[in-house]
Amino acid sequence: MVEDAPVQGAPEHLLEDAPAPAGLDHERLVTLATAGSGDQRVAARILKRLARRRTWALHRHVHLVAAFETALAEGPVETMLSVGAGSGLSELYLAASHPEVQFTLTELDEARMAWAREMSTCWEMENVSYAVQDLLAPCETDPAADFVASIEVLEHIDDDETAARNLIACSRRFVFALVPYCSAAELDDPRRARRAWSAHGHHRVGYTHETFAAVLGDHERLMLRNCYFNPEAAALRARLSEMSDEEAVEARLELTREAADDVQDRVVAGGTEQAQGIEALLRIDHPIDPPDAGRSDTTGGRGFDPLTPIPTTTGPWS
Ligand SMILES: C[S@@+](CC[C@H](N)C(=O)[O-])C[C@H]1O[C@@H](n2cnc3c(N)ncnc32)[C@H](O)[C@@H]1O
Repeated sequence: MVEDAPVQGAPEHLLEDAPAPAGLDHERLVTLATAGSGDQRVAARILKRLARRRTWALHRHVHLVAAFETALAEGPVETMLSVGAGSGLSELYLAASHPEVQFTLTELDEARMAWAREMSTCWEMENVSYAVQDLLAPCETDPAADFVASIEVLEHIDDDETAARNLIACSRRFVFALVPYCSAAELDDPRRARRAWSAHGHHRVGYTHETFAAVLGDHERLMLRNCYFNPEAAALRARLSEMSDEEAVEARLELTREAADDVQDRVVAGGTEQAQGIEALLRIDHPIDPPDAGRSDTTGGRGFDPLTPIPTTTGPWS
C-alpha cells in the first residue's frame, strides 16, 4: 500500500488494518471494466450509457468492479445486493459479466431504477431482480447476499449508524461502501455542511477516515482507502462534462481506462483538495441463524419487498 504520510488523526492503525487485497492488477481491472466477461454485448451497451451519464459514473463503475472482483478473489460470491442502487448501471454491467451470480438491485425510490428494470427485462437478464428497500429498516431475515454494496448512499441518510448496521446485516460475506471524503475541519464547517445539503442532499459533508471506520464498525477491513483523487479525477469529470454524448461514447474505453487510474491503495492526508471519496471493503463474519430462528418473515427470506417483474418487451434499445 502506498502511503502519503502523515495522515491527520490516527491513520496508522487504518493502514495496518487494511492491507491491500491481492489479485486485481490494473490491466485486469481495465479489461474487466471495459469488456465485461460474460454477455459482452450487454456490457458494451451499458458502458456507452455510463459514458453518457458523465458526472462520477465511470469512476463509480471502476470502483464497484474493482471491489466486486476483489471480493470474488477472496471468497465465493453467489448473490449480490446493491442498496440505493440509483440507475444501477454498473450493477447491470456486473450482472451481464457474471451470469452465474444473482443480483438484486434495491432503492428507496423505485422510479430511479426504471431504466435498469426495463433494460434487464428487454435483454432477458435472468439473474437480476429489483426491490424496494429502506436502509433505515432492519434487514429482518438472515443475511440477504454474499456481496452487499452501497455507493454514495450513507451520506444521504441522517441516521447513518443505523443505516450502516442494516447494510452490514444484509451481508453474509462482503460489504462495499463508498462515500464522500473530507477532513475533520471540513466536516465541522457549517458553510460546507449547508452547501452539501443544498447541492446534494447530503446530511454531512463526507467522512473522515475515523468517522467512516467508526460507522462501519468492528469488521475485518480488506481495504479502507481514498478515491476520486485530485486533480486527476476532478479533471476527468470536468472534461467529460464538456463532451457531447457522441464524444463521450466514442472515447468511453479511454475514459474508463483513465478512471481506473483512480483505483489505488492509497490513504491521503488532509481533505477534499487531495481526494473526494473514501471507500471500504469489509469481510463480514455473521453467525448465521437457522431460517426459523423465531422471526416472522413475509419477504421471501430477503428482508425487503420485491417489485413485480416487468413483462418482457422488445424495443429499439441501444
Ligand atoms: C447519490 S445516489 C447514489 C445512487 C447510486 N448508488 C450511484 O452510485 O449512482 C443516492 C441514492 O440513495 C438512495 N437512498 C436515500 N436514502 C435511502 C434509504 N434510506 N435507503 C435506501 N436508499 C436510500 C436514494 O434514493 C438515491 O438513489
